[in-house]
Amino acid sequence: MTSTTTTGLSRRHFLHALGVTGGAGAVLGAMETLGVVPAASAHTVAFQAPRDGDFSLQGRANRRHVVVLGAGVAGLAAAFELQKGGYRVTVLEAGDRPGGRNWTARRDSTSVETDGTRQTARFDRDQYMNMGPARIPQHHTTMQYCRELGVPLEVFANANASGYYFNQPSATAGGPLAGTPVRHRAAKADLFGHTSALLAKAVSQGSLDAELSAADKENLIGYLRSFGALTATDTYVGSGRAGYPRDDEPGGWFDRGTPLAPMDLGDLLAAGVGRNFSFEAGWDQAMMMFQPVGGMDAIPRALADAVRSVIRYGAPVSGIQNTPTGVTVTYTRDGATKTVDADYCVCTIPPQLMGGIASNFSAQTKADLAVPVPVSVGKVGQQYRRRFWETDEQIMGGITNTNMDNGTIWYPSSGYLGAKGVVVGSYNFGANADAYGALTPAERVARTVERGSLVHGAPYRDELETAFTVAWHKMPLQKGGWVGWPAGTQGGPETAYGRLTLPDGNTYFAGDHMSYVIAWQHGAFESARHTVTSLHTRALAT
Ligand code: ALA
Repeated sequence: MTSTTTTGLSRRHFLHALGVTGGAGAVLGAMETLGVVPAASAHTVAFQAPRDGDFSLQGRANRRHVVVLGAGVAGLAAAFELQKGGYRVTVLEAGDRPGGRNWTARRDSTSVETDGTRQTARFDRDQYMNMGPARIPQHHTTMQYCRELGVPLEVFANANASGYYFNQPSATAGGPLAGTPVRHRAAKADLFGHTSALLAKAVSQGSLDAELSAADKENLIGYLRSFGALTATDTYVGSGRAGYPRDDEPGGWFDRGTPLAPMDLGDLLAAGVGRNFSFEAGWDQAMMMFQPVGGMDAIPRALADAVRSVIRYGAPVSGIQNTPTGVTVTYTRDGATKTVDADYCVCTIPPQLMGGIASNFSAQTKADLAVPVPVSVGKVGQQYRRRFWETDEQIMGGITNTNMDNGTIWYPSSGYLGAKGVVVGSYNFGANADAYGALTPAERVARTVERGSLVHGAPYRDELETAFTVAWHKMPLQKGGWVGWPAGTQGGPETAYGRLTLPDGNTYFAGDHMSYVIAWQHGAFESARHTVTSLHTRALAT
């Protein structure tokens, strides 16, 4: 159907009539046909924010009121987009700041965990740490919001040839390289070189003749020579890519001598360093990556500034009741119980907290909200009085990978050449995060310092000034770093996830957990956009 087939009916009346008789689904289908809204089924169609004119085209004003639960990225983005269409929006946030898990700890930031563990950050005023999201891929929707909101970005170094792979010395694991920090550049040079030489040999000896034509063989060997830095006889004898032994000596740059002797292939394989290589090729982890200048919380702060209507902080929700005409949300503030009546609710509260909120949702919705499983996630940030990783080890940003329970070590991607810096000495998940979270903050720091000292030596302990930690699974308003949907529960309309993509009455569910890009702000933004499109389509039709 096209608009020319709606003879006798203006476009507006056509849509309105359909809305009365055919329900939101019919209107959406018709609007997609008319090109009024993006096709919900076609995720390739660009998001179109609600516009003031959408209601006035129908000859009416938008008097709809939406209550948004949660001032994290999804909630703020939903509020921001809804306002573009003239909705009145009230945001209720249990905490005292915007952002949710997008939290940048600075001097005097505090936390109280579920068991009463208290911390106060003692970072210098110009130092900070991103406790939640800390890197943004260049293709994520998050970038579009930074552009729209004017949030300045800088490069986040997610890969650095000078970072290390490090295996803890252990009787049972790690191989002969255990205890030796191996630069990413050296591990790659030698493993690429050794494996390229082996493959070239196999090709030359005819082992792959069944798979390769003569031309393929020649081309493959050409590629391997380049990829692996092989000699003219297709052997690997080391490469300047790994570095030069005299580089650290005065004048070493002038007469570099021969490259570092290659590490043994068996040792490299036993160390398992090659398993890390694929990380930085990941769709979401490949450079370029970015971070807001001055802290990730620049994003929620900019969103909160742009949301012109009310954000009520310190307002934990205790009840959500769908009514025949809207929704009533009960919350407490300043010790008093209050309610908000609205036409629609957008609930971004983490699903693992929903069991504590009274509602008249269907039994199916309640059961579905209990399906996603929260993931334990922890971080420890350490402020150093001296940027020894830069001055002593020439590491300018990037990440060191370990096989220890601290996970990775992140060097700051800002403040280069400055006096101080905050290193993320631990970023871990699952059982490792549980183990760290069970410790006192001081014990978490001590453990992280013990691990990192194996990589960086004495300065890692001696230059430490102060530290701050988070165990997201113990944060009362999150109770998890993110969630995972058990196998088979995230899919089409017959799955728990699929059912929750549709509203229960007048309440919609949004958040990164309601996306396929969980644990990224991108998922929160995309879920907010999906929810806003669904809600707006329905509002226009009713
Ligand atoms: N998005 C999270 C990260 O990059 C999981 O570590």
